[in-house]
Amino acid sequence: MPFLGVGLGLLILTGSSCFVLGAFYEHCDFLRNLHELIQEDPYAFYIREKLYATVATAFNPNCLHRMPDSCSRMSEIMKYGFPGLDDIRVYSDFVLSYDRRNRVAHWVYEHLRAPCVKADGTNINRKECWYQPDMSVPSNFRANLTDYKNSGFDRGHLAAAGNHKCHQTHCNETFYLTNIAPQVGKGFNHDAWNQLEIYVRELTESYGSVYVCTGPLYKPKRQLVGIATYSEHTRPTDEKWCVEYEVIGENTVAVPTHFFKVILVESKMSGGHPYMEAYIMPNAPIGKNINIRNFLADIREIEHIAGLQFFNGIRRSFFFGTNYSTTPEIYNNFQ
Ligand SMILES: *[C@@H]1O[C@H](CO)[C@@H](O)[C@H](O)[C@H]1NC(C)=O
Ligand SMILES: *[C@@H]1O[C@H](CO)[C@@H](O)[C@H](O)[C@H]1NC(C)=O
Ligand SMILES: *[C@@H]1O[C@H](CO)[C@@H](O)[C@H](O)[C@H]1NC(C)=O
Repeated sequence: MPFLGVGLGLLILTGSSCFVLGAFYEHCDFLRNLHELIQEDPYAFYIREKLYATVATAFNPNCLHRMPDSCSRMSEIMKYGFPGLDDIRVYSDFVLSYDRRNRVAHWVYEHLRAPCVKADGTNINRKECWYQPDMSVPSNFRANLTDYKNSGFDRGHLAAAGNHKCHQTHCNETFYLTNIAPQVGKGFNHDAWNQLEIYVRELTESYGSVYVCTGPLYKPKRQLVGIATYSEHTRPTDEKWCVEYEVIGENTVAVPTHFFKVILVESKMSGGHPYMEAYIMPNAPIGKNINIRNFLADIREIEHIAGLQFFNGIRRSFFFGTNYSTTPEIYNNFQ
């Protein structure tokens, strides 16, 4: 068996040189295979330094520091492509891109599966999860707990804690401040936004597999500027588009003006086309009894404002459809 093991190792090794130019999650897959090999084969364990050294250039540092398991999970989560490639951070059950300037993620990507969003029969304890800064972010780009304290804003989850109930570590990691953004509490985080999160979990329970990408928007708005008081006429040129947002704490954490969610529901039929829809909600007290479908948005608008591109891997025409105006329509028409 040792020979077979080493043979396998060399095979993977040769394979890895092709991976160097490929997407980097494939390196993670290689790492995982290597890890498995080492566990099975004592000989491979002794030459592991050599194996690692040979492919060192292919390693993604994120994969080295976390469990190799999370790397293969990453290729699953990112199946439909990366919306952007800025400062990618891989956690055990979600992947995010961190915006160092704003100290809030650009986007957070999750792949939800029915068993992990169920409220009952889980052994995870939210009380064991603590909000904490992610110390792997360089200190001058890092948000910390003091920034949020007395800011008047909630520490709002981008990847919702309730979506990651399969493992305590998965839930724990959603509390890293890299996955948190300042959100209006009453009327938004506790209400409208929470309803949207519940809706995504309901979709997951019905269809089994849902991809969701969540992030902040800093949306331009039309403002009247520099109107001379002596003038009797306000000309249209006195209006300009401006982006305006608050920043909180010493680390100037940005308060997004809006939040988006792009949702892709995989079909239960084999070979079926996925269904897609997107939402934009203002970071403001919206209220409790609202119809979330009032906030349906054009995915292209989100791409334009955020500078991201969603589901790059597939043509738009491949999608089953977008934008049903009522929730029952989805449940009736999409399988
Ligand atoms: C938070 O960051 C600020 C600015 O970098 C620093 O002065 C403060 O000590 C930090 N607070 C904690 C609790 O780390
Ligand atoms: C979750 O976080 C808490 C507090 O930081 C810690 O005590 C616990 O061991 C963590 N659990 C896991 C499974 O990582
Ligand atoms: C989805 O609905 C929103 C709101 O009604 C609309 O602005 C947008 O153009 C629609 N998007 C698509 C792709 O049909």
